[in-house]
Amino acid sequence: MSARAGRPIKVALLGCGTVGGEVARLLTEQAGELAARVGAPLELAGIAVRRPDKHPELPPELLTSDATALVESDVDVVVELIGGIEPARTWLLAALRAGKSVVTANKALLAEHSAELSEAADATGADLYFEASVAGAIPLLRPLRESLAGDRITRVMGIVNGTTNYILSAMDSTGAGYAETLDEASRLGYAEADPTADVDGYDAASKAAILASLAFHTRVTAADVHREGIAGVSASDIVAAKVLGRTVKLLAICERVTSADGTESVSVRVHPVMLPRTHQLSGVGGAFNAVYVEADAAGELMFYGQGAGGAPTASAVLGDLVAVARNQVVSGRGPRESAHAALPVRPMGQTPTRYHVSLDVADVPGVLAQVAQVFAAHDVSIATVRQRDRHSTASLVIVTHLAKDAALQSTVDEIGKMDVVREVVSVMRVEGED
Ligand code: HSE
Repeated sequence: MSARAGRPIKVALLGCGTVGGEVARLLTEQAGELAARVGAPLELAGIAVRRPDKHPELPPELLTSDATALVESDVDVVVELIGGIEPARTWLLAALRAGKSVVTANKALLAEHSAELSEAADATGADLYFEASVAGAIPLLRPLRESLAGDRITRVMGIVNGTTNYILSAMDSTGAGYAETLDEASRLGYAEADPTADVDGYDAASKAAILASLAFHTRVTAADVHREGIAGVSASDIVAAKVLGRTVKLLAICERVTSADGTESVSVRVHPVMLPRTHQLSGVGGAFNAVYVEADAAGELMFYGQGAGGAPTASAVLGDLVAVARNQVVSGRGPRESAHAALPVRPMGQTPTRYHVSLDVADVPGVLAQVAQVFAAHDVSIATVRQRDRHSTASLVIVTHLAKDAALQSTVDEIGKMDVVREVVSVMRVEGED
């Protein structure tokens, strides 16, 4: 047994909002159970908050507004639940450089600075755990980092933002437009007062960077992620999807792409897609998250659950805290960063995608041929075409085979300028059918 066993493990908590409050509560209420699981008591040594006077529910002797001093005190683990880049980055680097393990839910920080944080952890042998940074309560990062460490992951694709999933699910069920649905979601408390990070895809892009880094043993940052939000999704897109037996979802997609010459790269992107209603991710409604993983030996895996909220996210934080505390009890260490593959990130334009395009065109001879000619000119192969007549206008619904995204974009741009095309009703990438 290590010399450390039995001695309390001192925990500093930075931030005590919705998640931090739940972590503090569980640490206190479950103290006996957690000590038994860890092999030593977990002692909450201090809680750093901006305004200690705003937290009458917490023991005053634990509260401080001086996070730097708390990090520098004789704590063993720092749990960071503040979010944002600074000052969280400075505090966590200080903790890791002092050999203190870190548990964080900070996706924005990890998506930008995980290399720096991992190197600081490696220098002292400290642990850096961040299960709560992606998909809340869902055990996902540990399966990618540990359970699948012997496999070759080819794709991670999921709904990792509950706000946008709630909005798209509501648009699907009510037929209402985006702006109206966002207003309603804000009114009901499902969207933040400033929903930008969610609806513009920044939150999902940070999570995609973290997922891709773990899945492909490659450093991927938020800047590497192609990002499109849901503000451009219209009621017409939802109707077009329904007509084809599909639903619209905002997905984070991380793929291993192998070129004809065998060279590998990764594609990491966040954008709305049309998915067949029969796809497992289509049935994920409301504010839930779900992530679908494909690996060579394991095949297809699906992870589903609550992606946000105080108690669900605290579950992931506590799981990490128990893990790093157990490591400290045996003077061991969890897995280090694994970035040995260092695969290049493929630009979006070079990424193979499929498009759905709905058009209203003049119903005169030769129009279908003219439209098809534009696809052919851009080397884009059409998979299916459906036509419906409506008086002097015909509605064309085209779904392509895989082609480079840039070629598909150019095709759509050119089609939009054709005289015979009255309206481009809906353009969206299609997933889940290959
Ligand atoms: N804002 C996020 C969401 C939750 O809507 O899913 C935290 O990552």
